[in-house]
Amino acid sequence: MTGQSHRGAVTAKNWIVLLAIIVVASAIGIAFMLALRWFPEQGSNVAPDIDTFWDVLVIVSVPIFVAVTTMLLFSVWRWRQRPGEEDLDGPPIHGSTKLEVIWTIVPTIIIAALTTYAAILLVDIQAAPAKGTRVVNVNGVQFAWDFETQTPDGPVKTAKLYLPINEPVKFNVRSKDVIHDFWVPAFRLKVDAVPGITTTYNLTPTKLGTFDVVCAELCGLGHAYMRQTVTVMTRERYDAMMARLAAPAGTPAPATDGAAADLGKTMFVAGNPATGATACGACHTMKAAGTTAATGPNLDEALKTANAAAITEMIVDPNKQVAAGYSKGIMPANYATTMTKAQLAALVKYIDQSVHGKG
Ligand code: CUA
Repeated sequence: MTGQSHRGAVTAKNWIVLLAIIVVASAIGIAFMLALRWFPEQGSNVAPDIDTFWDVLVIVSVPIFVAVTTMLLFSVWRWRQRPGEEDLDGPPIHGSTKLEVIWTIVPTIIIAALTTYAAILLVDIQAAPAKGTRVVNVNGVQFAWDFETQTPDGPVKTAKLYLPINEPVKFNVRSKDVIHDFWVPAFRLKVDAVPGITTTYNLTPTKLGTFDVVCAELCGLGHAYMRQTVTVMTRERYDAMMARLAAPAGTPAPATDGAAADLGKTMFVAGNPATGATACGACHTMKAAGTTAATGPNLDEALKTANAAAITEMIVDPNKQVAAGYSKGIMPANYATTMTKAQLAALVKYIDQSVHGKG
């Protein structure tokens, strides 16, 4: 047997209570959301505008969320099924033109307004950079970024990004393999690195310090390791550093075995002192170096039977042969381009001696 359950219309008193709940809960929700620290410190000239935009999104979204949730909970409570009503049915409803018009037009206006705001903001902060703006070529490859800066002494390639403070910079972002995404959270802007095209954005770093550079597009097994840093420094320090890095290839190579071994150990434990390329020890265990990471194979075991030539090949062409139980494509494949011959030789010698107890 079916019938209809009528529980009466929503009264004016109901509406007043609902409205009060929505207003109070929205105010609390907005205050809470604005108090949370969502982003790292502001590191660029565009960061304040982006953060303001975020605040506006929060102020618009929270009341919508609160209103929808309040009405949902009210409806569940008010029209819940009570004992004895199992066979009853609600009144037949054939839609409400008035309601449909409202719930189409109101969201359309809100979305259109926010989209217009976002578009104007983007055009505003991405106005074409002035002529002579410093250009940094950002190249993504599984799984590392490299940065190429034009200097008076020629291009300088680094694995860490270096920028002078308060000077505009334009990034030309490219990928050598799959889609990556160049993101410095402290700067707020990001853009996909797409094979075959160059994407760009420009900004001015406004805060001294070192900030994260991350890949924000799932690009393979090593995506999570595609993290580097940007260091924003004074113009004097920046110029000095670029001049040093741009020094012609004849940079004094380590003269003695002792110095070479020191360089090899430094590169293994702390990373490339010139470019900041990742240290082997960040991923590999090697007893003599005192490293214990387990992302890659334990070198004391994996290289037991490898000679210097084999070790060299594994560094410059890591995907050619991968230790059992490990996947191709995890170890950065760009070490050949971020190390000088002398650095590579010193590193190989150090590893060779370490794993074979000759150190
Ligand atoms: Cu590159 Cu994720």
